[in-house]
Amino acid sequence: MTFVRPGGCVLDLAAGAGRHARLLARMGFEVEAVDRDTSLFADPPPQVRLLQADLEEGEWPYEGRLFDAIVATNYLHRPLLPVLVRSLERGGMLVYETFAQGNEKFGKPSNPAFLLAPGELLEAVRGSLRVLAFEDLVVSEPRPAAIQRIAARRE
Ligand SMILES: C[S@@+](CC[C@H](N)C(=O)[O-])C[C@H]1O[C@@H](n2cnc3c(N)ncnc32)[C@H](O)[C@@H]1O
Repeated sequence: MTFVRPGGCVLDLAAGAGRHARLLARMGFEVEAVDRDTSLFADPPPQVRLLQADLEEGEWPYEGRLFDAIVATNYLHRPLLPVLVRSLERGGMLVYETFAQGNEKFGKPSNPAFLLAPGELLEAVRGSLRVLAFEDLVVSEPRPAAIQRIAARRE
């Protein structure tokens, strides 16, 4: 089963060193990667368009753009959640994973601003996207952490 339109355009939000952008490029997708610090992402492959932008200040840099998938990991700026939901094509997938409340006991991040509340990702997509998978759990790899993750599709 194909979850994302083959050859489609995927946004890697707060891409960091680009581990997901590189994987997505190898999988044949066009990738938009955005981060406020693009120096972290060395030598992006040709399928990746790397954009420097502060996602917490100013305009959403992709206004009017729709993506076949959006990937966001280990980053949370709550005002962006509805923006991501409305930036998906029909059939587009949101794949989001980040730290959740309870992570304080394992270390950083421990600031509540960076920790999802119980069910928060479900709430973020309710009424807009169909949830294909959701988990709220403690993982042991790569290190113990409390996380939430969701895969949800615009019908
Ligand atoms: C923990 S890293 C996660 C990187 C990548 N998503 C991953 O999981 O490998 C968080 C990223 O968010 C970026 N970031 C933090 N605040 C940002 C902002 N206001 N605008 C854009 N990017 C930001 C950082 O530069 C960093 O690359």
